[in-house]
Amino acid sequence: MPLKFSIGGLLLDNPVLLAPLAGVTIPSLRLLFSRLGAGAVHTEMISCAGLLALERGQQRTRTGRMLSILDGEAPVIAQFFAGDVETLSAGVEVALRQQRGFAAVGINMACPMPKVLKKGAGSMLLERPGIAFEMVARLASLGLPVWPKIRKCPSTSPLSTESFCEGLLRSGAASVTVHGRTPAQRYEGSADASLPVRLAALFPGRICASGDIFTTERSAEYVEGGCVAVMLARGVIADPFLLPRTLAHLGLDTSPELLDPAPDRQTALLLEFGDSVCAEAGQRIAALMVKRLLSGMFRGQPGVGALRRTAAEVLSWEELRAMLEERETRVSPDIR
Ligand SMILES: Cc1cc2nc3c(=O)[nH]c(=O)nc-3n(C[C@H](O)[C@H](O)[C@H](O)COP(=O)(O)O)c2cc1C
Repeated sequence: MPLKFSIGGLLLDNPVLLAPLAGVTIPSLRLLFSRLGAGAVHTEMISCAGLLALERGQQRTRTGRMLSILDGEAPVIAQFFAGDVETLSAGVEVALRQQRGFAAVGINMACPMPKVLKKGAGSMLLERPGIAFEMVARLASLGLPVWPKIRKCPSTSPLSTESFCEGLLRSGAASVTVHGRTPAQRYEGSADASLPVRLAALFPGRICASGDIFTTERSAEYVEGGCVAVMLARGVIADPFLLPRTLAHLGLDTSPELLDPAPDRQTALLLEFGDSVCAEAGQRIAALMVKRLLSGMFRGQPGVGALRRTAAEVLSWEELRAMLEERETRVSPDIR
């Protein structure tokens, strides 16, 4: 097994990456998945218009916070969105002046949400290939590897997904991440898992796969099909330990204690995560984020349903933290 994997212009420990998830992949969550073994992690998509407003002193603090990186994170790919080349490149320049720690820059060409589409950004770029290619060329001139993320091109797109990918790579993209759903599908129906594999055959070593990665087998299908990396998304939010299990399934290094985690280890990871979110974003967000991961972290343990129901009533991290600590003394008494 090689010590490092060459993926999208980076040397990474492994090809199992955390996908960008708006409202979810905040620094503390990226740190958690770095601890679970991710080869690299993505920020949420960051608005370039928001960054420019921030520089003019007109923006709320959240866009600025999206630029922070915590000690211990795996290499961070910062993903940006904008509807035109100037806004994108000016916003990315602001970001790179404020944060020198990003390993690569991503461009969102996949988001199907109306508020992003109406700016001409996200998956609207699949219908504007000229702008999309110029965006890649402009960001490539800034010196970091450029990682556009796309969806399956809809029939209204002037190019096939194959030609769109080819254009991105020719314009200087280091890799292209492909999610095999059309924008119209949003997050419903199933992803076309054969699409990233077909593209990987056309562009060897350049395609990362996204879409319906809920099992270790799906990741293996993508990797064995020639995709250079897989991006875990909803699958690891529902079941965080899917990440170390995927590493093991692919024959990659992972720690045995993450494959069969003891309850006290699960609690420790969740407490560290909650404390980190609390420091980053406050009590309420910390409680919300921990509740989101609760069932997945304690999957298979007795009493998880009841814990989730009780936790649903709790609004502060302080209270939820006390509840988790108290539970741990009951579940793992022998460890004390
Ligand atoms: C809540 C949520 C937020 C997302 N945010 C982003 C984003 O900011 N940038 C992006 O490129 N994709 C985003 N995605 C798409 C995911 O990265 C991924 O491509 C998609 O969920 C398909 O993978 P899955 O079926 O394994 O979840 C988001 C998906 C969800 C569910």
